[in-house]
Amino acid sequence: MTRKRITVIGSINMDLVTKTRKIPRIGETVLGDSFYTIPGGKGANQAVAAARLGADVTLIGCVGQDAFGKELVKHLSIQGIHMDYVRPVLHQSTGFASITISDGDNSIIVVPGANYQVTPEFVEEHESVIAKSDIVLLQLEIPLKSVEKAVEIAKKHNVKVILNPAPIQALSKELVQKIDYLTPNEHEQQELLSSAFEWSEQEKKDLMAKCIVTRGSKGVKIFQNGGKEISGYKVEVVDTTGAGDTFNGALAFSLSFGMELEEACRFANAAAALSVSKLGAQGGMPTKQEVDEFLELQNER
Ligand code: RIB
Repeated sequence: MTRKRITVIGSINMDLVTKTRKIPRIGETVLGDSFYTIPGGKGANQAVAAARLGADVTLIGCVGQDAFGKELVKHLSIQGIHMDYVRPVLHQSTGFASITISDGDNSIIVVPGANYQVTPEFVEEHESVIAKSDIVLLQLEIPLKSVEKAVEIAKKHNVKVILNPAPIQALSKELVQKIDYLTPNEHEQQELLSSAFEWSEQEKKDLMAKCIVTRGSKGVKIFQNGGKEISGYKVEVVDTTGAGDTFNGALAFSLSFGMELEEACRFANAAAALSVSKLGAQGGMPTKQEVDEFLELQNER
């Protein structure tokens, strides 16, 4: 089977992760349990998820010329991702995320840093890479204008686009019309709809038809062709960070191999369930064999 080409244009962060039993209130100091620096960033995470499953993945992005940037480029190369189009930029530090984990759940603050050097011009320089892709996978941790440019180029070359609208921002009608699949979580879906309040009913319906809503342990909801719900799995949770990214990387992988949308979502849902069993956004991302075995165990293969 020829490996499919997935191009991810997005963020590369170092995650500074604190585990604590108690989340401090404003003005309060608490003692945490442990601290880790772990590779992350929605773009990089989704690239790793697709690469671990066996896709041929190229990442387009920026890091700073600092220790985190060097470490992340090395780490992502070891994951088998093509890193020729990741630029180390001057005068900006590598993006980072401050993550607090309590009871397996997380809260995150992202400081984009070098990720905001992924400008529309930088994206345009990589038109030939985008043109050769089977799927382009995007998130919203780089400037929205750059996402718009990437979508415009992908459409010009008939390349399918998945946009994971996280962290959520209002999207224009023109952008939504060009996207093939939108993958918000439940909260992001609500925000998308409320920011589209001036759209016609038909335009809102068209927006919803592109949505595949991730619902954590409740599974996934597809809105195309009358809709379909795919249930979640009961798994032991160590860390949910990156579960949505695993879903997106796995969805890009399965769609690029020509799976029908429902089957592709089942596969991605199983990959996401497996991903929460280890610490760190990328720690638990499974191989294709692990997903296949998991689906067989659930009698879904
Ligand atoms: O989706 C999880 C990711 O969000 C983390 O790795 C963090 O870097 C933020 O980008």
